[in-house]
Amino acid sequence: MTDSAQPVAPQTETGASGNVRVWDPLVRLFHWGLVAAFAVAWLSAEELQPVHEIAGYIVAALVAFRLVWGLVGSRYARFSQFIKGPHDTLSYLGDMVRGGERRYLGHNPAGAAMIVALLAALSGTAFTGWLMEEPDRLAMLPEMPQIVAPAWADGDGDHGEYGDGPLKEVHETFANLMLFLIALHVAGVALASVRHRENLARAMITGDKRAPGPEDII
Ligand code: HEM
Ligand code: HEM
Repeated sequence: MTDSAQPVAPQTETGASGNVRVWDPLVRLFHWGLVAAFAVAWLSAEELQPVHEIAGYIVAALVAFRLVWGLVGSRYARFSQFIKGPHDTLSYLGDMVRGGERRYLGHNPAGAAMIVALLAALSGTAFTGWLMEEPDRLAMLPEMPQIVAPAWADGDGDHGEYGDGPLKEVHETFANLMLFLIALHVAGVALASVRHRENLARAMITGDKRAPGPEDII
């Protein structure tokens, strides 16, 4: 157990339902928009290239928005509210293993670490897709061609239409890493929902969570 209770924030006033508003509308739109855009990008890969690229760009735009919103958004959207260092994160994971982790009104430290991983892997996926789509883009990056230019060479040394070499593999690896992270993310959400007896997925739709008790971290 790492955190001590803090005074109730102005935004966490309890409504008649006993719930408090946690996720602002833009965080919720971001989340479900991201889920939809990612699903379309994944399903259209190597099937419908224009759709794939548009969905990938929507993912990139949503991530860019989230990075800004993490600095200027509402209380529980801010990175400074939920991102914790390795010590707090490991300590929270230890509490989880022992079955004694506390309830957080916002993101818990493990969820926060996952959010950082998801945003980083999404950026990597979209960036490598963007790089791959047009050879000139590699040339615009002074440092990169040394490392990834061979990615453009196909079997006979020419440039493949979409880069058939390592860059495509890097793109695919990022996409597969995303699947792994999403599986962990959804499992973490399910576990926390069971442990704290609240439907976190629904909270990401309505924006509301049960009002904090004395043991909860706000
Ligand atoms: C249907 C499957 C999914 C469910 C039920 C779900 C549910 C949730 C929930 C409940 C949270 C809040 C966690 C908390 O209470 O701390 C969350 C956060 C988040 N999820 Fe998901 N998620 C799903 C799929 C995804 C996918 C596919 C992605 C990425 C492509 C994703 C990315 C994120 C991100 C980035 C956040 C942080 C939200 C923010 O603070 O802006 N989720 N998710
Ligand atoms: C961020 C979400 C994205 C996901 C999840 C994703 C996923 C994938 C996957 C799984 C493949 C198949 C790779 C393989 O089998 O080798 C692929 C291929 C590809 N992606 Fe993406 N991608 C995303 C974004 C982008 C973006 C933004 C672009 C470009 C604007 C892009 C361009 C490409 C290209 C050019 C290919 C190769 C297609 C082919 O060879 O037929 N991707 N992507």
